[in-house]
Amino acid sequence: MSPLPKRWRVFDQIGSTNDSIHAAAAAGEPEGTVHVAHEQIGGRGRLGRTWWSPPGSGLWMSVLLRPKIPAENAAGLSLLAGLAVKNGLRELLPRSISLYWPNDVYADSSRKLGGVLCEIRGTGTPDYWISCGVGLNIDLRSADIPLELRGRIADLAELGCEERNPIALGSRIVEAFWPLYERFQSGVALPDLVTAADLAHVGERVRVDRSSGGGETLRGVVAGLGKRGELLVRDRSGKIHEVLAGDVTYEEASGRD
Ligand code: BTN
Repeated sequence: MSPLPKRWRVFDQIGSTNDSIHAAAAAGEPEGTVHVAHEQIGGRGRLGRTWWSPPGSGLWMSVLLRPKIPAENAAGLSLLAGLAVKNGLRELLPRSISLYWPNDVYADSSRKLGGVLCEIRGTGTPDYWISCGVGLNIDLRSADIPLELRGRIADLAELGCEERNPIALGSRIVEAFWPLYERFQSGVALPDLVTAADLAHVGERVRVDRSSGGGETLRGVVAGLGKRGELLVRDRSGKIHEVLAGDVTYEEASGRD
């Protein structure tokens, strides 16, 4: 195995690599700092959910980003990181994996393989950073899968991936990410980077719970992505809504959230 890439730090056990990256950022560490843990005991996912991160079974990694673009344009970075997962693993997998807006990586239409959690902190452009966390199940055969996740998650081993080393997998993902990030920051619109072919759900019926922002539930069909990475949803009247945040349920799939 080659030596640990520069600016990478590996922890045996940690609360959350997203938190350790926030601490590193606050201490002035540069963009490109990467933290990986063999186990997280406080791993978290989107919408305040717990992210189950058992020891030695997955890639639990966060990357420090200090984007130069205005903070309000940075929301698309989750999807860009998802694309880096898909592209970075392409050569290792016999068939391609699917991306679901805003942050999910699926093995098939209903089993989640991984996810991305980008958290923004700081005082605003240019003084902000993002802890971009990637969780990816590598091999769960010896893990005691919680009841509520059984049948709903997948791992790379069962998809035929022979590489099981989290650092090697993480390096591929990070390498795949930088050119996408550079193009996004230089002004290339997100839909030109993450195309309809990369997204599994264009044309799928969707329900968006917008109650956290005081809005009503939106139902419609996914029409694609907006310039900054918003999900475009066409309602029954044909009106297109731009969804920037919200709890999205794809109605054709069972068990996905
Ligand atoms: C999701 O699908 O809701 C996002 C999951 C993100 C999990 C990763 S694991 C590494 C990093 N540390 C965390 O606490 N979360 C992210």
